[in-house]
Amino acid sequence: MHSTDGNSTKDARQHWDAAQYATNGRFVAELATEVVTLLKAKQGERILDLGCGDGALTEALRANGAEVVGCDNDSSMLAAAAARNLYTVHADMTSLPFQQEFDAVFSNAALHWTRNQTAVLQGIRRSLRPGGRFVAEMGGLGNIAAIRVALQATAASFGIDAEERAASFFPSVQSYLELLEANGFLVETIALLPRPTRLPGGMSDWLRTFRKAVLHGLSEKDQQSLVDRTVRLLSPALQDVDGTWWADYVRLRFRARLVP
Ligand code: BEZ
Repeated sequence: MHSTDGNSTKDARQHWDAAQYATNGRFVAELATEVVTLLKAKQGERILDLGCGDGALTEALRANGAEVVGCDNDSSMLAAAAARNLYTVHADMTSLPFQQEFDAVFSNAALHWTRNQTAVLQGIRRSLRPGGRFVAEMGGLGNIAAIRVALQATAASFGIDAEERAASFFPSVQSYLELLEANGFLVETIALLPRPTRLPGGMSDWLRTFRKAVLHGLSEKDQQSLVDRTVRLLSPALQDVDGTWWADYVRLRFRARLVP
């Protein structure tokens, strides 16, 4: 039985290394074409990119002529966004500081990082001008199901509850529709879309980039052992015959409007 250091597990939450993300997470922005199209950013509009990360999509939205503000809670990612000469705000998505100043709030692959969705949706509602739109894509029901089950099993032998540490939120169409409506939005379109996603660095790099909170507090040797065991468990389900790794992503994509 392995154990984690009691002090260091206290702040076991996901954090980012912009350089590592640039190597292993570039696909996140590259696969966002549909949600960007759904936003239909117009020249001169003021748009909030919530959970902007390193700003790859913020930059793409600005290229359409919109005035875009990138917002994130991670210093390393915000520094990478600022290096693209983007306007950025450091804030937690559960306590957004904006008041009726955006025509649209956009978000890609960020909303699922918290379970406090009411606080997020209330903050987005406050941030929008009357009639403003909220367009987003996030993990939906069944997202990374195989990865979650494997990680929960392997982390348990290190005394870690992977699900509790990851604290992800992957809702169904019905439950998110109800949440949006309960928080003052009119849903125009919403869909759950399976999207198996090729992992350029394989499963090991994905786990080390996107599941840092689960590995937090373990020695390097134990981290390697946990990752290796998880990769072995997942190989029959998510590794192709040619060796390529795929993540079992399922996207929830929607466009909603503030009820006038
Ligand atoms: C996602 O985009 O669905 C996701 C990414 C990393 C960890 C969990 C989910």
